[in-house]
Amino acid sequence: MSIFDFDDEEALGSVVAVDTTTVIIRVDSLERLRRIQVNRLTVLRSSRAGYHLIGLVTRITRKIDENGISANADANIVSELIPENNLVRITLIGTFKDRDGEASNVFLRTLETVPDIDSICFSLDGSRLTSFMQVIANVAMAGPRLSLGRFTLDDDAEAFLNGNRLFQRHALIVGSTGSGKSWTTARLLDQMAALPQSNAILFDIHGEYKPLKGDAFRHLRVAGPKDIEKGSGLEDGVLYLPYWLLGYEAIVTLFVDRSDQNAPNQSMIMTKCIIDAKRKILKESKCLSILNNFTIDSPVPFDLDTVLAELQELNKQMVPGAKDLPKQGPYFDKLSRLIVSGEFSAYLNPLTG
Ligand SMILES: Nc1ncnc2c1ncn2[C@@H]1O[C@H](COP(=O)(O)OP(=O)(O)OP(=O)(O)O)[C@@H](O)[C@H]1O
Ligand SMILES: [Mg+2]
Repeated sequence: MSIFDFDDEEALGSVVAVDTTTVIIRVDSLERLRRIQVNRLTVLRSSRAGYHLIGLVTRITRKIDENGISANADANIVSELIPENNLVRITLIGTFKDRDGEASNVFLRTLETVPDIDSICFSLDGSRLTSFMQVIANVAMAGPRLSLGRFTLDDDAEAFLNGNRLFQRHALIVGSTGSGKSWTTARLLDQMAALPQSNAILFDIHGEYKPLKGDAFRHLRVAGPKDIEKGSGLEDGVLYLPYWLLGYEAIVTLFVDRSDQNAPNQSMIMTKCIIDAKRKILKESKCLSILNNFTIDSPVPFDLDTVLAELQELNKQMVPGAKDLPKQGPYFDKLSRLIVSGEFSAYLNPLTG
Protein backbone atom coordinates (compact mmCIF):
# COMPACT_ATOMS: atom_id res chain seq x y z
CA MET A 1 0.00 0.00 0.00
CA SER A 2 1.25 3.48 -0.81
CA ILE A 3 2.51 5.54 2.08
CA PHE A 4 0.94 8.58 0.40
CA ASP A 5 -2.74 7.94 1.01
CA PHE A 6 -3.76 11.60 1.05
CA ASP A 7 -7.35 12.83 0.96
CA ASP A 8 -8.06 15.77 -1.32
CA GLU A 9 -9.22 17.78 1.70
CA GLU A 10 -5.70 17.66 3.18
CA ALA A 11 -4.27 19.46 0.16
CA LEU A 12 -1.97 22.39 0.70
CA GLY A 13 -2.89 23.85 -2.68
CA SER A 14 -2.66 23.27 -6.37
CA VAL A 15 -0.11 23.88 -9.09
CA VAL A 16 -0.37 27.19 -10.93
CA ALA A 17 2.98 27.23 -12.70
CA VAL A 18 5.62 24.67 -13.65
CA ASP A 19 9.16 25.30 -14.74
CA THR A 20 11.68 22.46 -15.31
CA THR A 21 12.17 21.65 -11.64
CA THR A 22 10.34 24.52 -9.98
CA VAL A 23 6.66 24.42 -9.24
CA ILE A 24 4.48 27.24 -7.89
CA ILE A 25 1.58 26.22 -5.69
CA ARG A 26 -1.33 28.47 -4.89
CA VAL A 27 -2.52 28.02 -1.32
CA ASP A 28 -6.06 29.12 -0.56
CA SER A 29 -6.13 28.39 3.15
CA LEU A 30 -4.20 30.93 5.21
CA GLU A 31 -4.15 28.43 8.06
CA ARG A 32 -2.27 25.87 5.92
CA LEU A 33 0.05 28.52 4.55
CA ARG A 34 1.05 29.44 8.10
CA ARG A 35 1.92 25.84 8.92
CA ILE A 36 4.22 25.37 5.97
CA GLN A 37 7.87 26.40 6.30
CA VAL A 38 10.84 26.72 4.02
CA ASN A 39 12.76 23.43 3.69
CA ARG A 40 9.67 21.35 4.41
CA LEU A 41 8.96 18.48 2.08
CA THR A 42 5.89 18.30 -0.11
CA VAL A 43 4.23 15.66 -2.24
CA LEU A 44 2.66 16.38 -5.62
CA ARG A 45 0.32 14.05 -7.37
CA SER A 46 1.62 13.06 -10.75
CA SER A 47 -0.46 12.43 -13.84
CA ARG A 48 0.90 8.87 -13.83
CA ALA A 49 -0.85 6.51 -11.49
CA GLY A 50 1.31 5.30 -8.61
CA TYR A 51 3.80 8.18 -9.03
CA HIS A 52 4.29 11.13 -6.70
CA LEU A 53 6.77 13.96 -7.02
CA ILE A 54 8.68 15.05 -3.96
CA GLY A 55 9.60 18.69 -3.57
CA LEU A 56 11.30 21.00 -1.12
CA VAL A 57 9.70 24.32 -0.18
CA THR A 58 12.12 27.10 -1.15
CA ARG A 59 9.95 30.20 -0.84
CA ILE A 60 6.63 31.23 0.66
CA THR A 61 4.90 34.48 -0.28
CA ARG A 62 1.67 35.98 0.94
CA LYS A 63 0.44 38.55 -1.54
CA ILE A 64 -2.61 40.67 -1.27
CA ASP A 65 -4.33 41.36 -4.55
CA GLU A 66 -5.57 44.92 -4.18
CA ASN A 67 -7.14 45.25 -7.61
CA GLY A 68 -10.80 46.04 -7.53
CA ILE A 69 -10.95 47.27 -3.93
CA SER A 70 -12.40 50.69 -3.61
CA ALA A 71 -10.17 53.18 -1.83
CA ASN A 72 -12.80 54.28 0.70
CA ALA A 73 -14.06 50.82 1.69
CA ASP A 74 -14.23 50.00 5.41
CA ALA A 75 -10.82 48.69 6.51
CA ASN A 76 -12.23 45.77 8.57
CA ILE A 77 -14.46 44.56 5.78
CA VAL A 78 -11.66 44.94 3.26
CA SER A 79 -9.35 42.65 5.24
CA GLU A 80 -11.90 39.87 4.90
CA LEU A 81 -12.71 40.60 1.30
CA ILE A 82 -9.26 41.05 -0.18
CA PRO A 83 -8.49 38.02 -2.27
CA GLU A 84 -5.06 36.73 -1.47
CA ASN A 85 -2.59 35.24 -3.84
CA ASN A 86 -0.52 33.02 -1.53
CA LEU A 87 2.20 31.18 -3.29
CA VAL A 88 4.65 28.49 -2.31
CA ARG A 89 7.64 27.79 -4.51
CA ILE A 90 8.80 24.20 -4.55
CA THR A 91 11.92 22.65 -6.02
CA LEU A 92 11.33 19.10 -7.15
CA ILE A 93 13.89 16.65 -5.83
CA GLY A 94 12.69 13.24 -6.92
CA THR A 95 10.00 10.77 -7.75
CA PHE A 96 8.30 8.36 -5.41
CA LYS A 97 6.87 5.22 -6.98
CA ASP A 98 4.38 3.01 -5.20
CA ARG A 99 5.83 0.09 -7.12
CA ASP A 100 8.97 -0.40 -9.17
CA GLY A 101 9.24 -3.93 -10.50
CA GLU A 102 9.19 -6.22 -7.50
CA ALA A 103 9.88 -3.45 -5.03
CA SER A 104 7.25 -1.28 -3.44
CA ASN A 105 7.73 2.27 -2.18
CA VAL A 106 10.79 3.38 -4.09
CA PHE A 107 12.31 6.86 -4.11
CA LEU A 108 14.34 7.95 -7.14
CA ARG A 109 16.34 11.15 -7.35
CA THR A 110 15.17 11.67 -10.91
CA LEU A 111 12.11 13.37 -12.29
CA GLU A 112 10.36 11.07 -14.69
CA THR A 113 7.25 13.22 -14.96
CA VAL A 114 6.35 16.83 -14.27
CA PRO A 115 3.19 17.86 -12.48
CA ASP A 116 0.22 19.14 -14.47
CA ILE A 117 -1.37 22.50 -13.85
CA ASP A 118 -3.96 22.09 -11.08
CA SER A 119 -2.22 18.97 -9.67
CA ILE A 120 -2.73 18.77 -5.96
CA CYS A 121 0.11 19.31 -3.52
CA PHE A 122 0.33 18.03 0.06
CA SER A 123 2.61 18.82 2.93
CA LEU A 124 4.75 15.82 3.95
CA ASP A 125 4.73 15.55 7.72
CA GLY A 126 3.88 13.34 10.70
CA SER A 127 3.76 9.61 10.18
CA ARG A 128 4.02 10.02 6.40
CA LEU A 129 7.32 11.88 6.79
CA THR A 130 8.54 9.09 9.09
CA SER A 131 7.59 6.48 6.49
CA PHE A 132 9.12 8.46 3.64
CA MET A 133 12.42 8.93 5.49
CA GLN A 134 12.45 5.23 6.27
CA VAL A 135 12.21 4.52 2.56
CA ILE A 136 15.13 6.89 1.92
CA ALA A 137 17.21 5.38 4.73
CA ASN A 138 16.30 1.90 3.52
CA VAL A 139 14.74 1.00 6.79
CA ALA A 140 12.34 -1.86 6.38
CA MET A 141 9.26 -1.38 8.50
CA ALA A 142 9.85 -4.61 10.42
CA GLY A 143 13.66 -4.92 10.04
CA PRO A 144 16.40 -3.82 12.43
CA ARG A 145 16.18 -0.11 12.86
CA LEU A 146 17.74 2.37 15.20
CA SER A 147 15.81 5.40 16.28
CA LEU A 148 17.77 8.65 16.11
CA GLY A 149 15.11 10.93 17.58
CA ARG A 150 12.77 13.32 15.86
CA PHE A 151 13.21 15.48 12.80
CA THR A 152 13.67 19.20 13.31
CA LEU A 153 11.50 19.45 10.20
CA ASP A 154 8.62 17.99 12.11
CA ASP A 155 8.49 16.99 15.77
CA ASP A 156 5.92 14.33 14.99
CA ALA A 157 8.18 12.45 12.61
CA GLU A 158 10.69 9.97 13.98
CA ALA A 159 14.07 9.44 12.33
CA PHE A 160 15.32 5.89 11.89
CA LEU A 161 18.52 4.37 10.63
CA ASN A 162 18.92 1.00 8.96
CA GLY A 163 20.93 -1.09 11.44
CA ASN A 164 22.35 -3.45 8.83
CA ARG A 165 23.54 -0.61 6.64
CA LEU A 166 25.10 1.24 9.53
CA PHE A 167 27.06 -1.73 10.79
CA GLN A 168 28.17 -3.09 7.44
CA ARG A 169 29.37 0.15 5.89
CA HIS A 170 31.31 3.24 6.78
CA ALA A 171 29.40 6.13 8.27
CA LEU A 172 30.22 9.69 9.19
CA ILE A 173 28.26 11.98 11.46
CA VAL A 174 28.80 15.58 10.47
CA GLY A 175 27.27 18.87 11.52
CA SER A 176 28.18 22.29 12.81
CA THR A 177 29.00 22.85 16.48
CA GLY A 178 26.00 22.18 18.67
CA SER A 179 24.02 20.49 15.92
CA GLY A 180 23.78 17.23 17.89
CA LYS A 181 26.62 14.96 16.71
CA SER A 182 27.56 13.80 20.20
CA TRP A 183 23.93 13.40 21.13
CA THR A 184 23.31 11.25 18.05
CA THR A 185 26.37 9.13 18.82
CA ALA A 186 25.24 8.57 22.40
CA ARG A 187 21.78 7.70 21.16
CA LEU A 188 23.21 5.19 18.70
CA LEU A 189 25.35 3.64 21.43
CA ASP A 190 22.34 3.31 23.70
CA GLN A 191 20.43 1.53 20.97
CA MET A 192 23.33 -0.72 20.06
CA ALA A 193 23.68 -1.64 23.72
CA ALA A 194 20.13 -2.93 23.64
CA LEU A 195 20.82 -5.23 20.68
CA PRO A 196 21.51 -8.87 21.57
CA GLN A 197 24.62 -9.35 19.42
CA SER A 198 26.37 -6.07 18.92
CA ASN A 199 30.01 -5.37 19.58
CA ALA A 200 31.22 -1.83 19.36
CA ILE A 201 34.41 -0.12 20.42
CA LEU A 202 34.34 3.62 20.99
CA PHE A 203 37.55 5.62 21.21
CA ASP A 204 36.38 8.35 23.49
CA ILE A 205 39.31 10.74 23.24
CA HIS A 206 37.74 13.47 25.40
CA GLY A 207 35.90 11.23 27.85
CA GLU A 208 32.60 12.62 26.55
CA TYR A 209 30.73 9.36 26.84
CA LYS A 210 31.66 8.54 30.41
CA PRO A 211 28.09 9.05 31.59
CA LEU A 212 26.83 6.12 29.47
CA LYS A 213 25.87 3.52 32.03
CA GLY A 214 24.38 0.05 31.89
CA ASP A 215 25.35 -3.60 31.81
CA ALA A 216 26.20 -3.41 28.13
CA PHE A 217 28.82 -0.70 28.60
CA ARG A 218 32.33 -1.24 29.80
CA HIS A 219 34.61 1.73 30.22
CA LEU A 220 38.35 1.20 29.89
CA ARG A 221 41.16 3.71 29.95
CA VAL A 222 44.72 3.44 28.76
CA ALA A 223 47.18 2.86 31.61
CA GLY A 224 49.43 5.61 32.91
CA PRO A 225 52.57 5.39 35.11
CA LYS A 226 50.48 5.41 38.32
CA ASP A 227 48.64 2.28 37.20
CA ILE A 228 51.92 0.43 36.87
CA GLU A 229 52.84 1.40 40.43
CA LYS A 230 49.44 0.28 41.70
CA GLY A 231 49.44 -2.84 39.57
CA SER A 232 45.97 -2.06 38.19
CA GLY A 233 44.68 -4.25 35.40
CA LEU A 234 41.71 -4.96 33.18
CA GLU A 235 39.52 -5.76 36.17
CA ASP A 236 40.05 -2.14 37.28
CA GLY A 237 39.12 -0.86 33.83
CA VAL A 238 42.74 -0.19 32.91
CA LEU A 239 43.98 -1.20 29.50
CA TYR A 240 47.64 -1.73 28.66
CA LEU A 241 48.58 -1.22 25.05
CA PRO A 242 51.81 -2.86 23.91
CA TYR A 243 54.50 -0.48 22.68
CA TRP A 244 54.99 -2.64 19.60
CA LEU A 245 51.56 -1.53 18.34
CA LEU A 246 52.96 1.98 17.82
CA GLY A 247 53.58 2.97 14.21
CA TYR A 248 56.70 4.69 12.89
CA GLU A 249 55.46 8.25 13.48
CA ALA A 250 54.43 7.50 17.06
CA ILE A 251 57.70 5.75 17.86
CA VAL A 252 59.77 8.60 16.49
CA THR A 253 57.68 11.16 18.39
CA LEU A 254 58.09 9.17 21.57
CA PHE A 255 61.81 8.45 21.37
CA VAL A 256 63.46 11.09 19.22
CA ASP A 257 63.86 14.70 20.25
CA ARG A 258 63.38 16.49 16.95
CA SER A 259 65.35 19.51 18.13
CA ASP A 260 68.46 17.34 18.55
CA GLN A 261 70.89 17.92 15.69
CA ASN A 262 71.23 14.14 15.35
CA ALA A 263 67.44 13.64 15.06
CA PRO A 264 67.41 12.48 11.41
CA ASN A 265 70.17 9.97 12.10
CA GLN A 266 68.46 8.82 15.25
CA SER A 267 65.14 8.24 13.43
CA MET A 268 66.89 6.29 10.74
CA ILE A 269 68.88 4.08 13.07
CA MET A 270 65.86 3.56 15.32
CA THR A 271 63.89 2.30 12.30
CA LYS A 272 66.71 -0.06 11.38
CA CYS A 273 67.03 -1.43 14.91
CA ILE A 274 63.26 -1.96 15.29
CA ILE A 275 63.03 -3.73 11.95
CA ASP A 276 65.97 -5.93 13.02
CA ALA A 277 64.27 -6.71 16.34
CA LYS A 278 60.97 -7.54 14.60
CA ARG A 279 62.79 -9.72 12.10
CA LYS A 280 64.51 -11.57 14.94
CA ILE A 281 61.17 -12.40 16.61
CA LEU A 282 59.57 -13.43 13.29
CA LYS A 283 62.51 -15.72 12.52
CA GLU A 284 62.40 -17.25 15.98
CA SER A 285 58.68 -17.92 15.71
CA LYS A 286 59.04 -19.09 12.08
CA CYS A 287 56.46 -16.67 10.67
CA LEU A 288 58.00 -16.86 7.22
CA SER A 289 55.15 -15.36 5.21
CA ILE A 290 55.15 -12.22 7.40
CA LEU A 291 58.95 -12.12 7.40
CA ASN A 292 59.01 -11.30 3.69
CA ASN A 293 56.34 -8.60 3.85
CA PHE A 294 56.47 -6.70 7.12
CA THR A 295 57.34 -3.03 7.58
CA ILE A 296 58.18 -0.89 10.58
CA ASP A 297 54.44 -0.18 10.95
CA SER A 298 53.40 -3.84 11.01
CA PRO A 299 52.09 -4.83 14.45
CA VAL A 300 54.80 -7.39 15.10
CA PRO A 301 55.94 -7.78 18.71
CA PHE A 302 59.60 -6.94 19.30
CA ASP A 303 61.87 -6.78 22.28
CA LEU A 304 62.69 -3.24 23.29
CA ASP A 305 65.78 -4.47 25.16
CA THR A 306 67.21 -5.87 21.90
CA VAL A 307 66.72 -2.47 20.29
CA LEU A 308 68.32 -0.64 23.22
CA ALA A 309 71.25 -3.05 23.28
CA GLU A 310 71.88 -2.48 19.57
CA LEU A 311 71.64 1.29 20.02
CA GLN A 312 74.08 1.16 22.95
CA GLU A 313 76.43 -0.88 20.87
CA LEU A 314 76.35 1.62 18.00
CA ASN A 315 76.69 4.53 20.43
CA LYS A 316 80.14 3.41 21.48
CA GLN A 317 81.17 1.52 18.37
CA MET A 318 84.74 1.96 17.18
CA VAL A 319 85.62 1.14 13.59
CA PRO A 320 89.00 0.62 11.90
CA GLY A 321 90.37 3.93 10.64
CA ALA A 322 93.53 5.06 8.89
CA LYS A 323 96.53 2.82 9.50
CA ASP A 324 94.18 0.37 11.15
CA LEU A 325 93.88 2.59 14.19
CA PRO A 326 90.43 2.45 15.73
CA LYS A 327 88.29 5.53 15.23
CA GLN A 328 84.81 6.47 16.40
CA GLY A 329 81.98 4.83 14.45
CA PRO A 330 79.32 6.84 12.52
CA TYR A 331 76.92 6.87 15.48
CA PHE A 332 79.48 7.28 18.24
CA ASP A 333 77.91 9.30 21.08
CA LYS A 334 75.11 10.44 18.76
CA LEU A 335 72.48 8.19 20.30
CA SER A 336 72.86 8.98 24.00
CA ARG A 337 69.65 10.98 24.30
CA LEU A 338 67.75 8.43 22.25
CA ILE A 339 68.89 5.67 24.59
CA VAL A 340 67.82 7.61 27.68
CA SER A 341 64.30 8.14 26.31
CA GLY A 342 64.19 4.51 25.16
CA GLU A 343 64.96 3.30 28.66
CA PHE A 344 62.29 5.56 30.08
CA SER A 345 59.69 4.28 27.61
CA ALA A 346 60.51 0.72 28.50
CA TYR A 347 59.70 1.57 32.09
CA LEU A 348 56.32 2.94 30.95
CA ASN A 349 55.09 -0.36 29.73
CA PRO A 350 56.84 -3.28 31.32
CA LEU A 351 53.85 -5.60 31.44
CA THR A 352 53.49 -5.99 27.73
CA GLY A 353 57.00 -6.42 26.45
N1 LIG B 1 17.96 15.25 18.87
C1 LIG B 1 18.07 16.06 19.91
N2 LIG B 1 17.01 16.34 20.68
C2 LIG B 1 17.12 17.17 21.72
N3 LIG B 1 18.24 17.80 22.08
C3 LIG B 1 19.32 17.58 21.37
C4 LIG B 1 19.31 16.71 20.24
N4 LIG B 1 20.54 16.67 19.72
C5 LIG B 1 21.29 17.50 20.47
N5 LIG B 1 20.56 18.05 21.46
C6 LIG B 1 21.07 19.00 22.44
O1 LIG B 1 21.80 20.01 21.73
C7 LIG B 1 22.99 20.34 22.41
C8 LIG B 1 24.21 20.20 21.50
O2 LIG B 1 24.30 18.85 21.07
P1 LIG B 1 25.69 18.09 20.93
O3 LIG B 1 26.56 18.36 22.11
O4 LIG B 1 25.34 16.67 20.64
O5 LIG B 1 26.27 18.81 19.65
P2 LIG B 1 27.63 18.52 18.86
O6 LIG B 1 27.26 18.54 17.42
O7 LIG B 1 28.28 17.30 19.40
O8 LIG B 1 28.47 19.80 19.21
P3 LIG B 1 30.08 19.97 19.23
O9 LIG B 1 30.48 20.15 17.78
O10 LIG B 1 30.27 21.21 20.02
O11 LIG B 1 30.68 18.74 19.86
C9 LIG B 1 23.07 19.44 23.64
O12 LIG B 1 22.70 20.19 24.78
C10 LIG B 1 22.07 18.34 23.37
O13 LIG B 1 21.47 17.93 24.58
MG1 LIG C 1 30.18 16.97 20.33
